Amino acid sequence: MTKYVIRGGKPLHGEVTISGAKNAAVAILPAALLVDGVCRIENVPNISDVTMILEIMKDLGAQVRFINRTTVEIDSSHVYKQNVPYELARQIRASYYLIGALLGRFGRAEVPPPGGCDLGVRPIDQHLKGFSAMGAEIQVENGFIYAVAPGDRLRGAPVYLDVVSVGATMNIMLAAALADGLTVIENAAKEPHIVDLANFLNSMGADIMGAGTDVIKVRGVKTLHGGSYSIIPDQIEAGTYMTAVAAAGGEVRINNIIPKHMDCITAKLVEMGVDIQEDGDALIVRRFGKLHRANVKTLPYPGFPTDMQPQVAAVLCLAEGTSILTEGIWDNRYRYADEFRRMGAKIQVDGKVAVIEGVGQLTGSPVCACDLRAGAAMIVAGLAASGITEIDQIHYVERGYEDIVEKLSRLGADIQAKITPDEDWRTSAC
Ligand code: EPU
Repeated sequence: MTKYVIRGGKPLHGEVTISGAKNAAVAILPAALLVDGVCRIENVPNISDVTMILEIMKDLGAQVRFINRTTVEIDSSHVYKQNVPYELARQIRASYYLIGALLGRFGRAEVPPPGGCDLGVRPIDQHLKGFSAMGAEIQVENGFIYAVAPGDRLRGAPVYLDVVSVGATMNIMLAAALADGLTVIENAAKEPHIVDLANFLNSMGADIMGAGTDVIKVRGVKTLHGGSYSIIPDQIEAGTYMTAVAAAGGEVRINNIIPKHMDCITAKLVEMGVDIQEDGDALIVRRFGKLHRANVKTLPYPGFPTDMQPQVAAVLCLAEGTSILTEGIWDNRYRYADEFRRMGAKIQVDGKVAVIEGVGQLTGSPVCACDLRAGAAMIVAGLAASGITEIDQIHYVERGYEDIVEKLSRLGADIQAKITPDEDWRTSAC
């Protein structure tokens, strides 16, 4: 097992370049299954969720070839299977996009329910409702979701989502791209990766309008052709580095971002006393003075992202005064609170609300990354803490952050990935 060992208390200085967006990549790569030709996809983040999606696609018969570390060519002409093995699918949340892509291209899909981080109940009823509205017959049995379109082709249909769901919006877009007729998704999610998926599909010949608003219209086309596309920068990776500077102090230029995507995070950090300047496709983040308390409520885009909630909580632990955090998306996204308490944080959780009394200084401790963003938050807290923080279960962090140890080290952080014997692992804090 590997753990991260951080000697905290060093301000961050320098420049960091943000990688491609995880939650765009995990939908755009499966979208290549819809394409009759070679897709060249650039700015693909080098993270384990991407490796896993590509493994599944290879297993289905897609030819996957890396041109360099972040550019991949995918040829789905020879895909011959529509059934995804349980062992591969259960490891990632985004395996659900294989249902939309396989159903859209071949009229059938056999995929186990998705895995991913434990954030409470994570149903996919809205995805399945969309596929059913488009004529698919869905059965869930023996641990698999079986979806079949009569005549091997879905038909366009209106779909009103009961909840604003990122995954359902993108999955229905995938299924609808090659369907017969018009699909209208109402109450759609508006996250930047939804616009990115629409741009990818349109650049391959799809006809999608309205992505980024709450009504998306997908007029099905007969085929999609190959082409090149570059994935947008990762809003959450960029936000995580912003919180790292807020917590540890210092001055960092964060390159390769879309500043507009960062507004919801920038506004909150400025309220907390962080200085943030926009400079083209970069943000310069400085924090030298004291941090102020703030209330944060997570909401669908353009609200404050749930995927930044644990990291901003780490910063609020260091601020003067009492802050209130309200989680608006997931039922169980405070599992990190016990870990923060080991570091001296004062945090009380009641359902979806956490009350954080700032303590000014955290102390290093052995802690556990209980999920991807909680792990990122442990790193943010560890960078600011006095003494040594050891973070277990860092495979969660590797699901979503490319080269995080190298990137932080270049900013002057004292962080190392240390291989530990299995015995240590069994007696760890997790
Ligand atoms: N929901 C339903 N039914 C559905 C789908 C969702 O009730 O069929 C509910 C969920 O239970 C939740 C809410 O709707 O309360 C929003 O869920 P959503 O579908 O938007 O989440 P997701 O697509 O499963 C993606 C990201 C998450 C991110 C959320 C919200 C991927 C692979 N995952 O999940 O990312 O938190 O959107 O923005 O794109 C992460 O990156 O750490 C992460 C957890």
